[in-house]
Amino acid sequence: MSELPQSADLIVFGGTGDLSMRKLLPALYHCDRDGRLSPETRIIAMSRGGLDDADFRGKVDAQVRGAVPIDDLNVWERFLGRLHHVSVDIGGEDTAGWERLGAMLAGHEQRTRVFYLASPPMTFGLFCRQLERVGLVTPASRVVLEKPLGRDLASARRINDEVGAIFDERQIHRIDHYLGKETVQNLLVLRFANAFLEPIWNSLWIDHVQITASETVGTPGRRGYYDHAGALRDMVQNHLLQLLCLVAMEPPSRNDREAIRDEKVKVLQALRPIVGGEVDRFTVRGQYTAGESGGEQVPGYLDEPDGTAPTETSRRVETFAAIRAEVKNWRWAGVPFYLRTGKRMPHRYSEIVVQFKDVPHSIFPGSAPNRLVLRLQPSEGIQLHIMAKEPGAGEVALKPVPLSLSFAETFTTRVPEAYERLLMDVLTGNPTLFMRRDEVEAAWRWIDPILGEWEAHGTLPEPYPAGTSGPAGAHELLGRSGRTWHEEASE
Ligand code: BG6
Repeated sequence: MSELPQSADLIVFGGTGDLSMRKLLPALYHCDRDGRLSPETRIIAMSRGGLDDADFRGKVDAQVRGAVPIDDLNVWERFLGRLHHVSVDIGGEDTAGWERLGAMLAGHEQRTRVFYLASPPMTFGLFCRQLERVGLVTPASRVVLEKPLGRDLASARRINDEVGAIFDERQIHRIDHYLGKETVQNLLVLRFANAFLEPIWNSLWIDHVQITASETVGTPGRRGYYDHAGALRDMVQNHLLQLLCLVAMEPPSRNDREAIRDEKVKVLQALRPIVGGEVDRFTVRGQYTAGESGGEQVPGYLDEPDGTAPTETSRRVETFAAIRAEVKNWRWAGVPFYLRTGKRMPHRYSEIVVQFKDVPHSIFPGSAPNRLVLRLQPSEGIQLHIMAKEPGAGEVALKPVPLSLSFAETFTTRVPEAYERLLMDVLTGNPTLFMRRDEVEAAWRWIDPILGEWEAHGTLPEPYPAGTSGPAGAHELLGRSGRTWHEEASE
């Protein structure tokens, strides 16, 4: 077994929230179960909740236990024993919570101290200032920022400035959980640990690339967040652009924190800006209406059950976005990168499709170009679609068949959740899979004009019924050049 990380105190702001209960705590339990947390490591949830340690442990026992495999009750009890809760009056007059946190951390200054901000981005600066004011920021401290990092370039810069006034860039970990997914890391290995792809990984051989993150879920109960986010800010600015970077980047000289991020940022800087009238031509936004999803009738975005009534902002927000992007450099000149994401789509899957060009001169009827499909989720794997001859003595008949690597069938070990990997990287101080300030800002710089044009527009997003693959405009986006989206039946 690898060496245990040092003892750590992981302080989670928004520690009783949705992300914490659904992702962070299950991931930390898995790390504990696999023996990757040192015995002294503590997890301290901060919230307004007014809970004490026992209440919080009870809540986690009730909500998280059913969602994780418990094969040894002692391990679960040990995990619960690491949990603490501190009630804090965020930004208010009452400083008792901060003092209690200070008392808990006193005497443990040598430990790795991680402040995980799973709270709205406008609280990041405030929390960092409070932490400094009460003297809790040590040289061994790290801060983790959950997305979204701002709403646009200006707000992202402001947040980066505020956090940067307290923490050094090397202490700041901006999380994008897609980077922790196994297949995403495998993409780097596929590209840079195999020689055969590199000579054909360019515009001479590749026709286009498609990156899809398709979800069946809607947004019930999330209007407060989603109305002000939309698919572009929620998924494209971060997850999809990060995937684009990994497909398009040049080979880094080393597998290290700066070399990989340097190459990614160059891709973002090479994205051709989509401005003015081009926004209409190269982007599509949609909003789901009522329809049938997963065998049941579901409401449209505006009628999702939520404590509040929809507003004009709700009517204008996109639950689907598709963009035709281009990377303006020697390798990728003229190769479209189609990005697409949506809620209430027919299937849940995320994948990258690299569509190769057809053979220069075909001697067989019915040949089709090769295609490489990287399946991020579910059923993680890689497929290379090649043409083969169908068995038979008659005329040669061709059929595309996949050369398939399924991770589940090839490797018997459990595929860890993205957050497990990322949390361990924070604890061991490896920032490679986290976004650097210049990356985040370069991504916003490209997104801002699209957002600006959409917001200035009098028109509403195109409607699409829940359970269908997005609005007609998304199909036209590819159809104009004779291409189609790769739709694959999934879950
Ligand atoms: C989050 C978005 O970042 O990613 C959610 O805020 C989205 O809206 C989620 O549902 C998708 O993550 P995954 O890992 O399920 O693809």
